[in-house]
Amino acid sequence: MNLIAAVDKNWAIGKQGRLLVNIPEDIKLFRMETNGKVAIMGRKTFEQIPEKTTLMDRVNIVLTRNMTYKKEGAIIVHSVEEALKKAEEYSSEDVYVVGGASVFEQFLPYCDVAHITSIDYEYDADAHFPNLDTFASWKVTRMSDEHTYFDLCYEFKKYCKM
Ligand SMILES: NC(=O)c1ccc[n+]([C@@H]2O[C@H](COP(=O)([O-])OP(=O)(O)OC[C@H]3O[C@@H](n4cnc5c(N)ncnc54)[C@H](OP(=O)(O)O)[C@@H]3O)[C@@H](O)[C@H]2O)c1
Repeated sequence: MNLIAAVDKNWAIGKQGRLLVNIPEDIKLFRMETNGKVAIMGRKTFEQIPEKTTLMDRVNIVLTRNMTYKKEGAIIVHSVEEALKKAEEYSSEDVYVVGGASVFEQFLPYCDVAHITSIDYEYDADAHFPNLDTFASWKVTRMSDEHTYFDLCYEFKKYCKM
């Protein structure tokens, strides 16, 4: 099972319910990587994704504790266990945990690949991804060249759990 996230130098991913920055090439990569696949996400992240993106050719598994929550284009689940059971219906390599912070943290133990866009900047933030560089079991197995978006530098990294 995969994780996919864009993180800054401190592994920050968001502030006040929003992304830290929108890098067009990163958004394109996210769409390419997850299109036709299965995305697991928290209710807050689901509500933040533009409607036309949620209705793409993707299965959206959305976590909420609200037992009456319903949304078009989403399979609603109410616990990590229920999400994992639903995800078992698909090939594990086609399942992507896409956030936010609470969901990344809870699903990290069940994942073995992480696609990380690493942004060379420190943002003011209130949501973080677990710092994979502090885990002995997670190693960078692939790294892109440095890319730029105006004066922002970033690279795409693939981490695998050994
Ligand atoms: N940089 C990136 O790659 C990236 C990607 C995604 C998100 N983000 C950022 O992450 C931030 C949002 O993260 P977040 O942690 O606040 O929100 P979140 O993880 O997107 O959603 C949290 C919600 O998910 C539901 N939930 C979580 N765990 C659950 C469980 N075990 N059982 C049932 N429901 C569960 C709850 O919904 P209810 O409240 O409905 O019960 C909870 O309030 C935003 O700033 C967003 O922009 C960044």
